[in-house]
Amino acid sequence: MLESNIALSELASEARTELKSTFGVESTFVAAAPGRVNLIGEHIDYCDGFVLPLAIERYVVVAARPNDSQTARIVTTGEAPVEINLANEQKVGEPKWSNYLRGIIRGFQDLHYRLPGFDAAIISSVPLGAGLSSSAALECAFATLLEGLVDTVLPTADKALLAQKAEHDFAGVPCGIMDQFASAFGMKDQLILIDCRTGEPEMVPFSDPSLSIIVANTNVSHDLSDGGYGARRKDTKDGLALTGKESWRDVTMKDVYAAQEKMGDRIFRRSRHVVTEIARTIEAVEAFKSGDFSNIGALMEGSHRSLRDDFEVSCDELDLMVALAQEIGFEGGVLGARMTGGGFGGSTVTLCRSVDAEDIARRMHERYLAETDIEPLLFITRPAAGAHLA
Ligand code: GLA
Repeated sequence: MLESNIALSELASEARTELKSTFGVESTFVAAAPGRVNLIGEHIDYCDGFVLPLAIERYVVVAARPNDSQTARIVTTGEAPVEINLANEQKVGEPKWSNYLRGIIRGFQDLHYRLPGFDAAIISSVPLGAGLSSSAALECAFATLLEGLVDTVLPTADKALLAQKAEHDFAGVPCGIMDQFASAFGMKDQLILIDCRTGEPEMVPFSDPSLSIIVANTNVSHDLSDGGYGARRKDTKDGLALTGKESWRDVTMKDVYAAQEKMGDRIFRRSRHVVTEIARTIEAVEAFKSGDFSNIGALMEGSHRSLRDDFEVSCDELDLMVALAQEIGFEGGVLGARMTGGGFGGSTVTLCRSVDAEDIARRMHERYLAETDIEPLLFITRPAAGAHLA
């Protein structure tokens, strides 16, 4: 169904109510951080590439209050409550979901902050397992809460890197920097162009009200720690080594062809994806900067095809959802569509005209349901604010 986004103020008051009903206390801190959707630049954040995500109007919100102890007591909907002794150096533990929190606490411990005990309630409107970075949103919201509790503000990039380290070391997902950067740096009406070689974000305006973004969750789930993601990372590392270059940013298609024989078919196709996706992303950024979108459909379609055929991270449901948007086409208000995020399920992103957005989303929903018997989740979003204390 077409879902509207719950206002951040409403989520914050839900989190406060949950804190009150579980622990009987009023919050002194409320932290929020958004999920993200990537417009283009997929599977190249760990290849020194460019990526162009935006923070979405879907948030993880944490309401908390210090409790005069050395223990953090944390609850969230649908998961076992967690108690963490903050006097201990954090290690991976149980329940599984607590590892995002433990990883962030460990990051603050490594920076020699002494955390006070606290009670917290977490609420989320970021769909889980949908390729929309619910885990990065949780990490960034929790890190922002801890900033509040120790009365500090980390440089935004440091906070994002701390969150990425939590994902690597505590959740076992060897992700790039895109998700945590998008959640930390997000800004209303701005896309975030990240140069993943330098780690520098640059804001690209997305303020034209006549354009909107549809996120379509296929509701086919994936697990990035199951090996597919790590295998792609390794393929790109091997591909780069065979070009003899230090960074993918210095690699041209000519270099890839020169190494084609040594690479073999699979590594060659992975490498072709990286080089062409970097070029497509640079072109797409130009389109957003100049407002000339005549090429954006071809760029997004090219990205999807490359992820499907060369990088092999798409699946039937993603291909179908993208095809349904493409069928509606430019006349129906669709500018471009592609899979987004890590893949193996998850979501697609469709750039469209705002006046047609609801109609497009309804049609995609209906057709997808009819063809797969799976209820998808679609929503319309604009670029939202990044992690902050509410
Ligand atoms: C996941 C990772 C990101 C990025 C994308 C693919 O979301 O967490 O770092 O690699 O996949 O673009």
